[in-house]
Amino acid sequence: MSLKRVRKAVVPVAGLGTRVLPGTKVVPKELLNVVDRPILSYVVAEAKAAGIEHFVFVTGRNKGAIEDYFDHQLELEAQLTAKGKTAILDELLSELPQAGQMSFVRQMQPHGLGHAVWCARDIIGDEPFAVLLPDMVMDADVPALKQAIDAQASVGGNIIVVEPVPHDQTHQYGVVALETQSGRLNKMTGMVEKPAKGTAPSNLIVSGRYILQPEIFELLASQERGAGGEIQLTDAMARLMTTQSFHALEYDGVTYDCGDKIGLLRANVALALKHPQLGAAARDALTPFFAQERTAEPAE
Ligand code: UTP
Repeated sequence: MSLKRVRKAVVPVAGLGTRVLPGTKVVPKELLNVVDRPILSYVVAEAKAAGIEHFVFVTGRNKGAIEDYFDHQLELEAQLTAKGKTAILDELLSELPQAGQMSFVRQMQPHGLGHAVWCARDIIGDEPFAVLLPDMVMDADVPALKQAIDAQASVGGNIIVVEPVPHDQTHQYGVVALETQSGRLNKMTGMVEKPAKGTAPSNLIVSGRYILQPEIFELLASQERGAGGEIQLTDAMARLMTTQSFHALEYDGVTYDCGDKIGLLRANVALALKHPQLGAAARDALTPFFAQERTAEPAE
């Protein structure tokens, strides 16, 4: 098992985004805005703050705009300079990677998350790496991926970031099984995808950040299709767990599933309200709606 530092991250962006159609027919889900910037911008900022030096985006058809987002737009930059709009220009430029820091590989067909991660194998090579599901925006004082990388530095092996949900909701998610539970970092014994109601081994669900060892690629290469006819990352992780250690890290923060219409709305409201510049105006704009709701409620 590799003891190298985690430097590279795989960001799979080749999915179809069917839950947030119709816009995603032409706009990549990852570029939908949350408050004042695309979902992907939050995720890349989180990973950079965790020390990630190289991003591998796994893209597909209709996702070319993602590559353009991380490139210069010379005409726009010239216009902003001419108009003296330096604040927004600086913001745009601050998001650009150093040359050679981003790679784009193509998943020609969306065969599943496991297949998407496998598409990055040649660029990752023989070192541990992070996977970030870009539709999961994780709001945390210490970036969620940094919490995972720090945990990996202390216990080694593979780390899966998890979060608790009410027990009656576990059947909707991937759920981890723990050896024993004490504190936030616990050794795993297994994981189940969407367990039948009342059978979940815990109430901790897999939430979209992983640190994986490169041996996962060999397992993904030989893997049969699993749930939904897709090549599942969960299945490969369960197989790797028979030879390597996996720990579940209950991270400190709040997750917004921006791949879902209501999750995207929650993210917009919550992050607008705590936005340093827009928060007060967002509160003023939203308060009348809640006041209206209260007046519309029937008297008890
Ligand atoms: P999701 O299942 O949430 O994304 O996959 P999706 O397929 O885009 O969304 P829906 O369910 O149709 O609305 C989690 C992540 O894995 C990527 C997606 O882009 C998303 O970021 N993914 C999924 C791939 O890159 N390739 C795949 O074959 C499947």
